[in-house]
Order: sequence, then C-alpha cells, then structure tokens
Amino acid sequence: MTRKGNIIILDDEPNIVEVILARLEVMGFEAKGFTSPAKALDALRQEECSVLLTDLKMPDMDGMEVLRLAKQIDPDVEVILFTAYGSIEGAVEAMKQGAHDYLVKPFEAIELLAKIESAMEKRALKQRVLYLEREVEKHIEHHIYAESPSMKKILSLVRQVGKSDATVLILGESGTGKELIAKMLHMESSRRDKKYVIMDCGATPSTLIEAELFGYTKGAFTGALRDKRGIIEEADTGTLFLDEIGNISPEMQTRLLRVLETGEFRPIGQVDLKKVDIRVIAATNVDLVQKVKEGKFREDLYYRLKVITVDLPPLRDRKDDIIGLARLFLVEFCNKTGKKITGFSKDAIDLLMEHQWPGNVRELKNVIESAVVLCKDDMITSDVILLSDMAEEEAGKDEGDLNPLELQEKAMVIQALKKAKWVQKDAADILGISRRVMHYKIRKFNIQQDKKLA
Ligand SMILES: Nc1ncnc2c1ncn2[C@@H]1O[C@H](COP(=O)(O)OP(=O)(O)OP(=O)(O)O)[C@@H](O)[C@H]1O
Ligand SMILES: [Mg+2]
Repeated sequence: MTRKGNIIILDDEPNIVEVILARLEVMGFEAKGFTSPAKALDALRQEECSVLLTDLKMPDMDGMEVLRLAKQIDPDVEVILFTAYGSIEGAVEAMKQGAHDYLVKPFEAIELLAKIESAMEKRALKQRVLYLEREVEKHIEHHIYAESPSMKKILSLVRQVGKSDATVLILGESGTGKELIAKMLHMESSRRDKKYVIMDCGATPSTLIEAELFGYTKGAFTGALRDKRGIIEEADTGTLFLDEIGNISPEMQTRLLRVLETGEFRPIGQVDLKKVDIRVIAATNVDLVQKVKEGKFREDLYYRLKVITVDLPPLRDRKDDIIGLARLFLVEFCNKTGKKITGFSKDAIDLLMEHQWPGNVRELKNVIESAVVLCKDDMITSDVILLSDMAEEEAGKDEGDLNPLELQEKAMVIQALKKAKWVQKDAADILGISRRVMHYKIRKFNIQQDKKLA
C-alpha cells in the first residue's frame, strides 16, 4: 500500500533518519531520508513533496533556515520540526514562521502519523482552494464571471462597443449584473482613465435628481446655500452611468434628452448653457418598451439611449454560470472570513442548479455568503444552503411549470412519501436525501398528503 504524498526527512543523525524512515514505510508512506540540509532541499526542488520533517538543531543549517528555504522553493510544502525537549520555544517560533507543527523527541509513531496526516490534509485543502480559484479565474474578466455562451457573447459585445462612444442601454432583471457591465464598458473605453460617475435615479427622490444631475447656483432655490456642480459636469470627459433610468420623471426625461443630443445643459439658477463631453450608459430592470407604450417614457429618449442594447439574461436562463459563480463567491467569502471550505457537495450543486433564482446573481451571492457563515464542515451541503433565505423564494410550483425531469422527480418524492406513510424523515431516507431537502422538494412541488391514498 502506498499513500499519496511524498515525505522528506532531514536530521543530522543518520540513526534517527533510519528509524523514522522505517516507521513511515511500515505505515505505507513514500519517504526519502537525508542528513544534509542542502541535499534535502535539492530533493524538494526536484520533485513535489507534501511534508518535510526536519530537525531543529543541526550543525550545517538549522531547522528555521531549512523552513525558510523550503517555503521559498514550494510555498505549499508543510514543514514539521523535531525538537529536543529543551528547545520547544524554537519550535513555537518556527510555527509563527509558517511551520505546520512540531514533534518533541522522542515521539510515538502514532503521534508522528497524526501530525503527518493533518499536514497532508491541510496541504490538500490549500491546493483544492487554489485549484478552485484558478478554475474560476479562467472565466473572469473585469470581475465578471462568464462561462455560459450567452454571457460570453455579451462580454465580447461589450468589448467591441466599449471602444466607441456610443450610448448603451443595459437591460436585465434585478441582480443580473448591469452595474458590472456598465463599469466594464467604461474600463474598455478610451475614457478609462477619466471619471466614471454613477447617478442612481432609482434611489434618489425625483425632486433631487435634477439638482444632483445639473447642479445649481447659490440661491437658485431654498436650501441652495452655495454653488454645486452637477453630476453631468463632474463626468465631463468621462462616463456617466444613469442607473434605474426607467424611474425618472417626464420633465427629467426631456432635459436629459437635450443633454444627450447637444451635450449642453444649464445648471439650475444659471442663464448660460454649459457644454460637456460625456459618454452615457443607462440601465434599467423595467420594461421600457411597455413604458413607452403607456406614454410614461419618451419614445425619442428611448431610441436615443438604445443606440446599443445589452440585454442580460436572467440567471435561470444561463445555468452554465451557476456553479462557477457559486465557487467564485465561495472563494471570496472564505478569504473574507478565513474559513476553509473546499467546495459544494453533490446535493448542494443539484439544489443550486434547480433553483429559479428570482433575485439572480445577487441572490446567489447572498445565499453563498450565508452558507459560508453557517457551514461547519469543509463542504457546503444542501442543508446549509436551505438554511439561508433561498428556500423561501421558491415554493409551490404548478404541475404545468414543471419540466419532464421535475415531473418524474415529483412522482418519486410522492412514491417515497407513500411508502414511508408520509413520515418525511423516512421518505428522505428512502431517497437518500436529507430531511431538509425533502422538505424543500415537498414545498417546491406543492405536494400535499392525499388522505384517501395515505
Ligand atoms: N457575472 C458576474 N460575475 C460576478 N459577479 C456578479 C456577476 N453578475 C452579478 N454579480 C454580482 O452580483 C451582484 C449584483 O450585480 P449588479 O449590482 O451589477 O446587478 P444589477 O443588475 O445592477 O441589479 P439591480 O437591477 O438590482 O441594480 C453584485 O454583487 C455583483 O458583483
Ligand atoms: Mg444595479
């Protein structure tokens, strides 16, 4: 039996090296022994090694120096030091410098084994996180993750039109990433080194939007205690992002149209017009075509804005992005909280893929954030995901909304429930899922106990 992971043993006493080598071999590890630090480090350079065991006190080079050089050669190698009883402080210091652990001589085989295994586990975990980070990075551009063909197409469109000064209208449900796309458009443009100014038309009361956008002179209205530059002027030579454009009042629509057409505007209370050079990007999650039909949004402004349209699909229509996004957020929140979680269990992935994500990427991000907080293991399971807000979003699907696979699943759930005499826990056992997932599916499929059949 050979276990994975190479081990290097270094001690200036040949006997000790021999004894440990023999012990490790019995335990099935692959190990190489050295009495010279230089040779041990050479071996580390030549082939990957997961754990390096080194003595702390050696004549040529001490264990601290070995630790430092080893980490330089391979930052992922885990180092365990041996130390005599009298020099434990040295070992503690070594741990501060990045050693995994230490062993006080003489030590038992079982102690050696436990420490090596924990070092190997730590290294495997680190490598797994690194792998996930790399996988995720492959699909990232301007902080935007795109694996699905539809998102890739959008990014290539954005790259193309970013270079021009054309006005862009970004459409998409809430949480689909409109703000990220707007920023990318700016960063891809020749204006990237200039200002990027956001006006959130949705969050600002309409009476304030005018003052914010156009600015005013002192005394222009009650409360105008001094001159104030408007956002339009601030964005001069740069990009102005008008977020939630669907919400602006008819008067503001007219005034905005004028800025878009002429590049001119007049601050409140001022006689003279000012001229600016801005690139405008607008976004909305409302149906502007409908608003135009209802006479609530000026048609000419609509056409002026939608010179180029970027339509972001809802997350449920680009399922290829779900797992990658989940991993991206997992890595992000693990880094933030210092938690070490290596990924998602199979049932968690099923659940993420199944959910309809009415709140799109923002909802997914929130779910992963709370899952990271709640997770007590090194894997996120479906149970942990269901503890977050997500489960409440989707309940009670009608039969007509289900696809063939879901219909079959629903039938299986009902069958299991009947077999288990409607005891949910037992039915969950029959299907090999957790009680919480069972509960979720019952609500999702709107399953109710039929008293006559029970
Ligand atoms: N493709 C993506 N890659 C990485 N993160 C994303 C992606 N899409 C969205 N996000 C993240 O999801 C959250 C919501 O995105 P954003 O604010 O851009 O959405 P929005 O469409 O502007 O939503 P709203 O209409 O509610 O304003 C942000 O935290 C954003 O960073
Ligand atoms: Mg937004």
